[in-house]
Amino acid sequence: MEPFRIKAVEPIPFPTSEERRTMLSNAGYNLFRVPARMITIDLLTDSGTSAMSAEQWAALFRGDESYAGARSFERFESVVEELTGFPEVIPAHQGRVAERILLTSALSPGDVSVSNTHFDTTRASVEAAGAIAVDLPVEQNASKPFGGDIDLVALNEHLHESGVGRVRCVVLTITNNAGGGQPVSPANVAAVRELCDRHGVMLLLDASRFAENAYLVTQRDQSYANSAPRDVARATFAMADGCWASLKKDGIGNIGGMIAVRDADLARACRNRLIETEGFPTYGGLAGRDLDALAQGLREVTDPDYLRYRAESARWFGDQLAAAGLPVVEPTGCHAVYIDARLLLPHISALAFPATALANELYLAGAIRGCDLGTLVFGRVDPSGGPDVAAPRELVRLTLPRRVYTKSHLEYVAEVAARVASKAAEVPGYRIVEQAGTLRHFTAVLAPLS
Ligand code: F0G
Repeated sequence: MEPFRIKAVEPIPFPTSEERRTMLSNAGYNLFRVPARMITIDLLTDSGTSAMSAEQWAALFRGDESYAGARSFERFESVVEELTGFPEVIPAHQGRVAERILLTSALSPGDVSVSNTHFDTTRASVEAAGAIAVDLPVEQNASKPFGGDIDLVALNEHLHESGVGRVRCVVLTITNNAGGGQPVSPANVAAVRELCDRHGVMLLLDASRFAENAYLVTQRDQSYANSAPRDVARATFAMADGCWASLKKDGIGNIGGMIAVRDADLARACRNRLIETEGFPTYGGLAGRDLDALAQGLREVTDPDYLRYRAESARWFGDQLAAAGLPVVEPTGCHAVYIDARLLLPHISALAFPATALANELYLAGAIRGCDLGTLVFGRVDPSGGPDVAAPRELVRLTLPRRVYTKSHLEYVAEVAARVASKAAEVPGYRIVEQAGTLRHFTAVLAPLS
């Protein structure tokens, strides 16, 4: 059960079926363009959507809004230092600016960054530094407990001869969001550490979901069955040279990010860049009160009772969806359940956006908003006007905000999903009417193929 009781509530809207149809059509069949007041259950993202605890709300009041050297920063810094072991702690207003600052400080043009999977904003930051991002995930399947690992054989080959440039850093995204939210094993991190030492390469963590990764380690690796998630997380940080995180996830904050590194020179370079865009290095684009709420969130997020609830509700939700006839990506991680739209909608070709079609159908059937991770997002557009290159997978992510929805909310989603699955053959594909050159999924206008 949920290891908390509810102190403040927010009503949720129940648009009628007519309103949903009109709203989706007005939004160009793009769920990003549907206003939240027309969504019953919003599973678009777990980012910045968490419910704060009473202690976090109380911490807001302690916020010290001094421009430089605020007490809030000192509290934030000591929590991050204690958790990560990194002596250099730099706040930022969200994850993508933290990675932009760290990666553009650490990488030079022509360098290579190798990862289990660079999240899309991470890849953009590597490329902004003039460097090359290479993804080497292990092949994921239902029997693999650590589907987030990096492929060590391929990494070894790249370190010996990348063929494209000098490998400067290895980035391990924990958990691997783009790869189904699968965890990275301590053995994999240790092996990467050894390879990095041998080749003089930096090991960085994208630690946005570090606590969920640590908890899944305690569940999926017998040798950690009796370890506290916080100890597993600390041991993981200890193997790296530095990290960044979006604290809108496992910081349980509505906004926030951070950089934490061992190397003082690298930290100095980051701080100088930070001043240009985010503000003074003791607030990094945040209010003092945000830093206090995040410090408290970082303490709470490794609570084993909370993490057990988080992982078990995701697994239960995945089981309900599978029982409802949806092809769920197994094993379920912590932050989301991923559905394979290609398997559910084999009659829709990749270039008719099966993931978009499934996400839209869940909205039409029950005002549920999921996240489309298919060709609309990852497909490549041919600039000369030829057909798109389809994405390798067509997934819909039903992402779980932290401490927001109860089991009965998720039961409702499973009931709606069952209705959609039973009429899967009738779901139409889509075509694009209007799109931007980059990151088209945020604004694209689509129309159903009849
Ligand atoms: N790294 C990972 C692994 C992420 O999942 C995200 C954001 C970021 C970095 C960027 O952080 O949003 O604070 O700037 N993921 C969100 C999502 C957007 O929905 O998965 P940010």
